[in-house]
Amino acid sequence: MTPGVSTYRLALVGFGSVGRGLAEILSLHHRRFVDRYGADIRIVAACTRRWCVYDPNGIDAAALLRAASPDAIRALPGACAWKTDQMIASVDADVLVEASPTDMTTGEPATTYVRSAIGRGMHVITANKGPIALHFAELRRLAEERGVMLGFEATVMAGTPALRLGWSDLAGCDIQEVRGIVNGTTNFILTRMERGMDYASALAEAQRLGYAEADPTSDVEGHDAACKAAILANVLMDARLTPADVEREGITGITREMVAAAAATGERWKLIARVWRDGSTTRAAVRPMRLMVEHPLAGIDGATNALTLSTDLLGNVTIIGPGAGGVATGFAILSDLLALHRVRRTENQEPRTEN
Ligand code: NDP
Ligand code: HSE
Repeated sequence: MTPGVSTYRLALVGFGSVGRGLAEILSLHHRRFVDRYGADIRIVAACTRRWCVYDPNGIDAAALLRAASPDAIRALPGACAWKTDQMIASVDADVLVEASPTDMTTGEPATTYVRSAIGRGMHVITANKGPIALHFAELRRLAEERGVMLGFEATVMAGTPALRLGWSDLAGCDIQEVRGIVNGTTNFILTRMERGMDYASALAEAQRLGYAEADPTSDVEGHDAACKAAILANVLMDARLTPADVEREGITGITREMVAAAAATGERWKLIARVWRDGSTTRAAVRPMRLMVEHPLAGIDGATNALTLSTDLLGNVTIIGPGAGGVATGFAILSDLLALHRVRRTENQEPRTEN
């Protein structure tokens, strides 16, 4: 190990848009993170349901990205027969990165993977929303007990730091309401439909660009936004909501005629998520709304997301940025890793108290 440089060995579950996005960032910019921050971040294991590769010294991320098929990956050095649970139980790694598909009803199998990794003393960074939407309080407690980090910035607004803004930068404020556009796929579809594209083609394009969930029903029926609303409520407003508690309506009822009718009166359809305090309870809802073009959320196009946090001490704070996509979400995982690195550096520099 180079003096002054800390190594972070990642074990990656899932190699779809997000896993590949992270691998792309690391293969292109690994040197930048070493030189600028002293963080040597390398993938030592990666697995899907169909293959696993493990090299304790680090996998060649570019070779993994170049491999065009599961068979080509199985021919790479380090290819092995581990299933995901075996990989987590056996791998010599510092951080589990969970990027398998979200199950919004059970959170599985990702939640079991996260618990196992924490149990082994690994830090965990998840892009998977299931574990955080359904089991945040338990997983946070387990991570605290084991003294490891639980990172989940990727779960809302991809790499745009909406959660960190709320829990870190706005710490000290009471967040009373959160409102905005938190699903990239539906915003992309609505924007394309305004330009004349039909619904099915717009959805296919969102899938091709890596925005949509493995089952895009969860995007277009509003489940993904409801999941994010529950995460925002629980992480930023100390609530205990599940996605099922969120009132929900998706965009499947919005026709091209409705989009055109709104445009004719200077309005735009947007899928709006809202979390708010109602007396002593916290409520959340996701529904399509017709907004006047002057409305701040009306101008948010494509897979861009936007969120306004209403606070007692600072008033309204709005954040706008990419809400979906492989590299945009891989960046969120990188931001959690660099946050972990900063914490570890600070802990190491802390003056020791003499007894
Ligand atoms: P994809 O569907 O593109 O990829 C999912 C990957 O997970 C595939 O490689 C799949 O492999 C693998 N996988 C499935 N089940 C398992 C398993 N049990 N063990 C190991 N690997 C498994 O999804 P994305 O990359 O788009 O998303 C990953 C996660 O990140 C999801 O939870 C999603 O909600 C979340 N997310 C996605 C964003 C995006 O913009 N795409 C943004 C923010 C969060 P196989 O081919 O073998 O099934
Ligand atoms: N399917 C999600 C979206 C990915 O379109 O917003 C980002 O969480």
